[in-house]
Amino acid sequence: MTTHKIYLNPTPVRIWHWLHALGIVTLILSGLQIRFPEYVNLFGTYKSAIRLHNTAGIVVALSFVLWFGYYALIAGSLAKLYIPGKHDIQRGLWLQGVYYFFNFFRGRPNPHHATPENKFNALQKSAYMVIMLMLVPLVTLTGLALLYIAPAWSLVNMVGGLKILVNLHFLCACALCAFVFTHVYLATLGVTPWAHFKPMWDGWEEIEEKH
Ligand code: HEM
Repeated sequence: MTTHKIYLNPTPVRIWHWLHALGIVTLILSGLQIRFPEYVNLFGTYKSAIRLHNTAGIVVALSFVLWFGYYALIAGSLAKLYIPGKHDIQRGLWLQGVYYFFNFFRGRPNPHHATPENKFNALQKSAYMVIMLMLVPLVTLTGLALLYIAPAWSLVNMVGGLKILVNLHFLCACALCAFVFTHVYLATLGVTPWAHFKPMWDGWEEIEEKH
């Protein structure tokens, strides 16, 4: 068996990913305290939880701009990597689902092989598209509107009032939270539990070739 390496994740992607992950985990924990102050107290006072939540929100908004700017303007590969094609929808989603639910546990090989031009399997592509192009922008926009309520008043009215905006923000946050748990679990289903973490840390994926 020989191995070779491919450079899968350029530096801006890795910086974005870990900044974003840290920001979102901080948002979830501080958001829990803000929403359920009678049950959760992780950051001292209510005011300090709000201050941390607002700061992490700005970090996530800025890191989203880094992600979008890199993929859309510099690499030019946003649509190619993140939008599922006909083949992904017709066959890829099914094959990958069968792999995650059954074949992984029978020791069968992953039907998708990552390359820099086609990094994600059909399920990853679909999930990452919904998360990065819909959910993260929506949770960021509703969060920024709550933070800068006076200048965003027309947006607040557009969605039907403050109560609806707050609940929309909370529902998006719950969906993001569900994604994070699923994402971290699926990321451990590589050849070894750390195989997918390494390329997101140092950029390089190791491929084993059987002869
Ligand atoms: C909380 C801790 C997190 C861990 C441990 C983690 C882990 C990983 C790992 C190992 C990968 C590479 C393998 C793969 O593509 O599945 C990855 C990629 C990715 N993660 Fe995460 N993640 C975390 C949080 C997040 C969050 C909060 C988001 C977005 C809301 C996110 C979005 C993504 C995206 C879009 C990719 C693909 C990036 C690219 O190559 O362009 N991750 N993550």
